[in-house]
Amino acid sequence: MPTRTVKGKAGAGKAASAKAPAIKQLELPTPTPPPAKSSDTRTRRAVAAATPALKPSAPAPAPAAAPAPAGGNGNGNGHGDHPSPALAAAAAPDVPERPAVATPAAPVFRTTAAAMAAKQRDISVSEFFAKNRHLLGFDNPRKALLTAVKEAVDNSLDACEEAGILPEITVILEEKAEDRFRMIVQDNGPGIVKQQIPKVFGKLLYGSKFHTLKMSRGQQGIGISAAGMYGQITTGKPIVITSRTGPHKQAHYAEIHLDTARNQPEILKEADIDWTHPHGTRVEIEMTGRYLRGRASVDEYVYQTAIANPHVTFHYVMPDQSRVDYERATDRLPREPKVIKPHPYGVELGLLIKMLDATTSRNLRGMMTSEFCRVSSRAADEICAAAQLKGENRPHGVDRVAAERLHKAMQAAKLMAPPTDCISPIGEDLIEAGLRKVIKADFYCAVSRSPVVYRGNPFLVEAGIAYGGEMPQDELVRVLRYANRVPLLYQQSACATTEGVLSIDWKSYGLAQSRGALPAGPAVLLVHMASVWVPFTSESKEAVADYPEIEKEIKLALQECGRKLASHIRKKQHLAYEIKRRSIFLAYAGVLAESLEGLCGVKKARIEADLDRVSKKAMPDLAEPPRAAEEEADAAPPPAGDPASAAAAPPPDANGGEK
Ligand SMILES: Nc1ncnc2c1ncn2[C@@H]1O[C@H](COP(=O)(O)OP(=O)(O)OP(=O)(O)O)[C@@H](O)[C@H]1O
Ligand SMILES: [Mg+2]
Repeated sequence: MPTRTVKGKAGAGKAASAKAPAIKQLELPTPTPPPAKSSDTRTRRAVAAATPALKPSAPAPAPAAAPAPAGGNGNGNGHGDHPSPALAAAAAPDVPERPAVATPAAPVFRTTAAAMAAKQRDISVSEFFAKNRHLLGFDNPRKALLTAVKEAVDNSLDACEEAGILPEITVILEEKAEDRFRMIVQDNGPGIVKQQIPKVFGKLLYGSKFHTLKMSRGQQGIGISAAGMYGQITTGKPIVITSRTGPHKQAHYAEIHLDTARNQPEILKEADIDWTHPHGTRVEIEMTGRYLRGRASVDEYVYQTAIANPHVTFHYVMPDQSRVDYERATDRLPREPKVIKPHPYGVELGLLIKMLDATTSRNLRGMMTSEFCRVSSRAADEICAAAQLKGENRPHGVDRVAAERLHKAMQAAKLMAPPTDCISPIGEDLIEAGLRKVIKADFYCAVSRSPVVYRGNPFLVEAGIAYGGEMPQDELVRVLRYANRVPLLYQQSACATTEGVLSIDWKSYGLAQSRGALPAGPAVLLVHMASVWVPFTSESKEAVADYPEIEKEIKLALQECGRKLASHIRKKQHLAYEIKRRSIFLAYAGVLAESLEGLCGVKKARIEADLDRVSKKAMPDLAEPPRAAEEEADAAPPPAGDPASAAAAPPPDANGGEK
């Protein structure tokens, strides 16, 4: 279809484009429009003008399908979304006579808006996640088994810590058939009240943590019910719960089914029963799964959780009935994290409008001081003034435009950073204790940084390194990633943690590294990000989003650990060099003593003893150098002045070098 751009008189063209934007948008070919009278007629005239000026000798080819009646939309109901240009032209009484033009054939649609409207309806959140279960971490049987265990254990740990109970968790995997497992997770937590059990386990988006800004493992209210739903979809079996809230109460047993169409729980069976445990919760889910050992397995999850949670005792029974127990390394519970209010810097406009609507405060000043942290009355007045509002204004009366000004003023205001006691770090000593508990190395170090803020949310980063021991020399280092003490086992490359590790030149710290790759050497790196709101890249909580503030902190924490590691490696290499020097010295001691005996008449044995004493004095901590160390010394290069040159040689075997 030929198109023409409007090239009328400059003034007319301008008027048309300014007053009839709809026509301009459609970019329909139009002759110079007649002078406008009123906006109404102008529009109609413009639409009429939009009729393509086809020559009568070249009519538009009609589609093979039955041509639509004029003004229809192709389905014959005469209720098309857009009026036909021919009809619009006919309806315009003041349109001057125009030569007859061919109307273009109305497009024929495969379906209609009305037919589509008949199919449009609500989607239940559980239906959505049942179809998109990969979003929640249930994309394949192996991962599904891990995710289910992880969700249940995370909840148990959250509940125990919230109640101030030292957690003792049992995880049992029973193989029911090929690719079918029953997962049992039992805790000694505070239990769940009877009335809440159906909703907690049989309704998605139901939980206690979503609406508070507090550091916890769970945050979305979707984890355990999604695991139950996955089990139900793949085996048809309900989630089975036993929970007891105290020694003087009976335990409650329930079998819960999730009605995915309504996102509502259905109780299939329930009873009060006797249970040997004074308090706690037991969750059982049968599901299609696959049990494999190795990276990203349930074994790995339990192992890594034990490292970052040294206050937890784990009993883990694998499908072949073999059992691992991780005893707690400390009886000290983590400090209880405080709940905080949102900080103005982290609030988005939509949320602010919602808060203005929902607040019970009578004026803006009251709302800002009571619903945000770090906003004093004075700061609230200043923010209001900057937004051309008054502190006494009613929050409900603030319209969208004023809310936008208020939002801008809040971002520009000078406010204190949010309080940081809402974050409970693992701590340097406990990170080291956790690493020692499960990794045999000969050097451990950890760093816990001070809390900072991203998007108004406080967070802190901790890092640790275990180096040497029996770890392989020439493999890439293992990176243990944690968010709020939960190991992250998937999507390593999409995680800010990995970005942080890759952004460092590890050669400066004594580890080998190829360009753009993880460092290599006998080391394990641990990175923990703790926050009141961890910015996960998806609902399955597998990777931390890459905020520049977070990546910077990760980098700084790892560099601090790296410096400690480099100093350790330098010391080791220096030691190895000294051992080598001493062994050379002692190799010639006999010949030297013999010559001296001849020269000064002192007994050779006495001179030898003196020489030995002198060599030990130079290295008091090497009274008896071990053989392995001496062997290693032969291979070790001389000490280097800077860590970069120390890294040039392969990292020495840590076992023998240090005493
Ligand atoms: N073992 C348990 N002991 C006590 N309370 C529990 C236990 N498991 C779950 N809950 C309660 O059930 C709620 C829902 O758990 P769910 O795992 O579905 O969501 P969440 O932990 O809040 O968030 P997320 O989806 O991020 O895991 C929790 O918020 C908690 O209040
Ligand atoms: Mg949870």
